Amino acid sequence: MGAASAAFLAELGHHVSLVERDPDRRSVFEAGQVPFREPLLAEHWRALLERGVLRMASAVGDVLPCDQVWIAVGTPSLPDGRADLSQVESVVSDLEGTPGGICVMRSTVPPGTGTSLSTRLAKHGWGYVAHPEFLREGLALDDMERPSRLVIGSSDHELSESVKAVYGEQVQVPVVLTTVASAELAKLASNAFLAARVSFINEMALLSDAVGADVRVVAQVMGMDERIGPRFLEAGIGYGGSCFPKDTRALGSLGEDLGVPLTILRSVIEVNSRMQRVLIRRVRQALGGSFSGASIAVWGLTFKPGTDDVRESPSLTVVNSLLAEHANVIVHDPAAGVLPWGAQVPRAKEPEESLIGAQAVLVLTAWPAYQRVVPAEVVPSMQMPRIVADGRGALRADDWRHAGATVIGIGTGQPVGERVREATPFRAEALGA
Ligand code: UDX
Repeated sequence: MGAASAAFLAELGHHVSLVERDPDRRSVFEAGQVPFREPLLAEHWRALLERGVLRMASAVGDVLPCDQVWIAVGTPSLPDGRADLSQVESVVSDLEGTPGGICVMRSTVPPGTGTSLSTRLAKHGWGYVAHPEFLREGLALDDMERPSRLVIGSSDHELSESVKAVYGEQVQVPVVLTTVASAELAKLASNAFLAARVSFINEMALLSDAVGADVRVVAQVMGMDERIGPRFLEAGIGYGGSCFPKDTRALGSLGEDLGVPLTILRSVIEVNSRMQRVLIRRVRQALGGSFSGASIAVWGLTFKPGTDDVRESPSLTVVNSLLAEHANVIVHDPAAGVLPWGAQVPRAKEPEESLIGAQAVLVLTAWPAYQRVVPAEVVPSMQMPRIVADGRGALRADDWRHAGATVIGIGTGQPVGERVREATPFRAEALGA
């Protein structure tokens, strides 16, 4: 999230240039706007440009020499799960042979990357500091201004101090000065651990359904223990976005490459995709065993509320499964950008409109707008069997039931009469203890 870093550094009083190679995105930035949904950032952007503390550039070479180059390019997944470092590589090769400064790595790279990059860059007079970011989409500038911690990794204490000094006295947070490898692993481990919490509570949700418990209560009770804490215990159809899926895969691949199999992480990823299949199976069953020709409304396509991003959104997987099973799908989302299906999947302007004639609605992102829909006004417009499948625990189920809908959830303790698969024995000898 380079733009959030750039805006924050400019607010602190530094002279910042944001290098954006994509001409379309660059012209949006130059016009004082932000080409993605990041409300606080958008608010500040134009003023920073007007004050002249923030400039746009199209190439790294145009902004050199400068004291620090912060790299915040994408590191998406390659087909084998490893991180694609080609954008990082491209910036680093631009730095080689130019007047030296400090190269600050904000992008999430696999541990080991920084050590080899720093050796390379040192030959050209560049210092290297790993300084991973922990920004959430939709809250990126907020997270820059009030980070939970700053992690600064380098083999050279002076370089670390120079990066720390950028923040001045305004940012009062714990600062961890460490090695490059520890900083790199700390970032990936944080994302993987949060993903693990989500998958853990999702498995508890499936078990809740089997034993008639309510996973929200289970999560509430767990979260009251200070050692556990209440966050990232919301059960549903799983995590998505531009970070958790790719970072868990990258970490898992790294473990494999280094001969350290990350068994827990493998299960985290497996459980995550299972959750989407579970919801699909439950709705199919409620429809009498088939989606073929059924009219299905889908509410929510972004990977979480508060963003316009659909990258690796579980909703896309669900919609693709519905289409593969020949359902007629209509979608609604208040913010999602361009969608992959074209005319095959119409997009309703309002959630209510999408329910007219629908046999089922699947709620896949917990946008607050869906809570404001009045069940009694819309359920009569649906076709039988009027299924409401809440994949995010976003609705007040009782209100929908009273209005005549059949409500399906995940972890609500409603018996679903299914057995996902034969359990692996948990006896000690089966686990090799
Ligand atoms: C995440 C990290 O939080 C951030 O620190 C890192 O820098 C980038 O990745 P983000 O991708 O913006 O940020 O989303 P986040 O709010 O963490 O949610 C990730 C996914 O987990 C979403 O799909 C969300 O719906 C899901 N989630 C989160 C749950 O399913 N249950 C929860 O309890 C919490």
